Amino acid sequence: MRTQIVAGNWKMNKNQDETENLLSELSAKLPDSHATVIVAPTFVNLVTSKNALHSSTIKVAAQNMHFAENGAYTGEISSDMLLNIGIDIVILGHSERRSLFGEDDELLAKKVKTAIEKQMTVIFCFGEELEERKSDNHFSVVESQLKNAMFGLDEKSWQHIVLAYEPVWAIGTGETATPEQAQEMHAFIRNTISEAYNPTLANDVSILYGGSVKPNNAAEIFSKPDVDGGLIGGASLKADDFVEIIKAI
Ligand code: PGA
Repeated sequence: MRTQIVAGNWKMNKNQDETENLLSELSAKLPDSHATVIVAPTFVNLVTSKNALHSSTIKVAAQNMHFAENGAYTGEISSDMLLNIGIDIVILGHSERRSLFGEDDELLAKKVKTAIEKQMTVIFCFGEELEERKSDNHFSVVESQLKNAMFGLDEKSWQHIVLAYEPVWAIGTGETATPEQAQEMHAFIRNTISEAYNPTLANDVSILYGGSVKPNNAAEIFSKPDVDGGLIGGASLKADDFVEIIKAI
């Protein structure tokens, strides 16, 4: 059974004090929801966040991690380090990691493999750039991103996978995919997974939409049958906005 999820990707925002403030406001205002609510603060504030949320249902995720167990990788964070502080959810493949930090499908496949071996939950992000959509290549781009990074996984591993379709042209731009565009792509993704694996597995994977989801467009996007929630950037930085988005699911 797939679950509905609203996840906030805080990116490189909020220092420790601001993290505590936002989490306490969020906890106080959190509506009853059947959806799983996740926040992904920056690495240095993960422990603070876990502590602040110890009696809350809100889960905490990391925004990235390295694929290696440990070693000479200056500036990097391993899965064991995350697990040791109680973080077992990680966002991988965000378009900013791909475009600004050169992460490609091959590297992401390694990261996903490590996370799965460590029994972590992966929120795997992917999506086409504007030029790719304009040239009508969005379906083939998305298909190859999935195939290259994810289709090496065995069936069992998919229990730990959440997908986040994020068209790059809609991230932080204020331009959202229409609910119809989101549904069309999500259905395509499910179908692609169904062909690579089987219909049951495809039906059970949660597929989130990300890219300028706001309080005023969330309900319509979430109403689509193949959209199982959202990965929220900018609007997750304000408690009131994030709460409205959670209410919309
Ligand atoms: P946005 O970011 O909601 O600010 O567009 C989404 C994301 O990057 O995950």
